[in-house]
Amino acid sequence: MLLAPLRPALLLLAPLASLPREAFGWSVLVLGGTGFRGHLTTERLIRERHNVTFLSRGNSYWNLLKDLKVHATHWTCNRTLDLGYGGVELPESSGLANCDALTNSTVQFDAVVDFSSKKVGELKQAVNLLRGRVGVYIFISSHAVYDVSKNATHSEPLLLESDAKRPGREVSPLERFELKAKNVHGDAALECEEELMKQYNSGGFPFVALRLANVVGPKENTVRFWLLHLWVRAHIPLTMPMQLDETLLETPISVTYTPDIAQAVVRAISRSRGETCCPEHVNGEAFNLACEEAPTQRMLYNRVAEPMRVPYVETQEVSRNSSVVLYPEIVRGPVSIAKALDVLRWSPTDLSKALRSVAMFYDRIMVDEKKYRYERGVMYEKTKKMLGKDGPRFCEWIRAHYAERRKFDLYDELDDEDQDDMLLVRPDPEKRPPKRRKAHRKSPDQKRTDL
Ligand SMILES: *[C@@H]1O[C@H](CO)[C@@H](O)[C@H](O)[C@H]1NC(C)=O
Ligand SMILES: *[C@@H]1O[C@H](CO)[C@@H](O)[C@H](O)[C@H]1NC(C)=O
Ligand SMILES: *[C@@H]1O[C@H](CO)[C@@H](O)[C@H](O)[C@H]1NC(C)=O
Ligand SMILES: *[C@@H]1O[C@H](CO)[C@@H](O)[C@H](O)[C@H]1NC(C)=O
Ligand SMILES: *[C@@H]1O[C@H](CO)[C@@H](O)[C@H](O)[C@H]1NC(C)=O
Repeated sequence: MLLAPLRPALLLLAPLASLPREAFGWSVLVLGGTGFRGHLTTERLIRERHNVTFLSRGNSYWNLLKDLKVHATHWTCNRTLDLGYGGVELPESSGLANCDALTNSTVQFDAVVDFSSKKVGELKQAVNLLRGRVGVYIFISSHAVYDVSKNATHSEPLLLESDAKRPGREVSPLERFELKAKNVHGDAALECEEELMKQYNSGGFPFVALRLANVVGPKENTVRFWLLHLWVRAHIPLTMPMQLDETLLETPISVTYTPDIAQAVVRAISRSRGETCCPEHVNGEAFNLACEEAPTQRMLYNRVAEPMRVPYVETQEVSRNSSVVLYPEIVRGPVSIAKALDVLRWSPTDLSKALRSVAMFYDRIMVDEKKYRYERGVMYEKTKKMLGKDGPRFCEWIRAHYAERRKFDLYDELDDEDQDDMLLVRPDPEKRPPKRRKAHRKSPDQKRTDL
């Protein structure tokens, strides 16, 4: 049942804190970039020695803010727009309009990476304030855009980027309205993409939209994967079978791994800038990002169980309303990643490896109690609520299990910094890391085989 103890051979990269401070390379503004989906992108840009500025409200999860601030400029600003009479947004007096650091600055950004526009109004405001000083705008979008699109007409079973289409207001207001109502997040993401296209077509800056599927990775703000991980671990001893939503048994789930987002961002920027061929292939384009394998719920549970050495997974089919099903968030799918593979030369992590890395991360922070006390507390709270009457005994089992593991596991072979590094990006085949590797370490490729 136990995960093999971590070995120092897992360390892929130098700790962030040990990097020299001065940066060169691109000047990049990351909107958001301190949360679950974005922090590894911010980190990667820092590691590749770009001059990174990141803008967020300043909430810190997982100490990320503090760690990132050492090497990048942080602008503390709140993007939420106030609503005036009749629910009208007030971009003149709220959101980024109050962000002095941004409005006073005249810095030319080679790239803006936007993880935080939640509504088209927020995006428009950023576009207006940054007009004339952006090389390329990378918008982090979602495969929820397909939820609000017309049904595909091709025979390809996977969703293609070109499927995110809906009739304009002038063409079919009713159909557009009905599609918009299907998924509020998908609607907002597609509106943002449409807005970026509009400003690009009228002479504005180029953009690239990266559409994420169900996102997995370390350091979630929610406890989705973390709970799944613990549940898979506990379900047999507690006779709490994993639940399958009976309406989604055969639905393949596209999964995006957070380090792979970082890889796509740097590749898109480098292509848009013409450092790698070719700007015209990426500017104004959208790319789906997901692992090659799109498992069903049952397969996903098995994949999560494998690295824990949980030999089999018990499941029960539950009606949609009463099930606790953590994935998928969005059922429209799976997505084709052919375009990202071909045009961005992007290579997503193998799903099993990705899940193994995330499993190791959560296991490690459950065993090693030195850090992340707050996050564990939140996890126990939320887990209790989500599991209802089973919550207390579940949490009790988990506490006892890790107390036992703590006696035997060897996690303290690693120091604190190492933990942040163990599941970072693979070295980019396109851009092998410079000579920062130490001679006595094995090459990253060899190390990967230890995963
Ligand atoms: C890095 O970006 C900041 C903007 O946040 C700018 O003030 C600074 O001059 C830049 N540094 C270099 C070396 O370009
Ligand atoms: C951000 O701004 C919104 C709208 O003004 C406000 O409701 C919210 O409390 C602010 N959040 C923070 C963290 O300041
Ligand atoms: C921005 O400019 C205003 C007016 O010039 C000034 O009062 C304010 O301190 C500046 N803010 C920052 C963060 O530089
Ligand atoms: C689109 O596909 C869904 C599911 O396959 C189906 O229920 C719906 O009727 C289709 N809509 C149109 C307009 O064809
Ligand atoms: C699920 O819940 C909705 C609203 O709460 C209800 O209308 C629907 O009948 C329920 N479906 C089942 C299968 O229980």
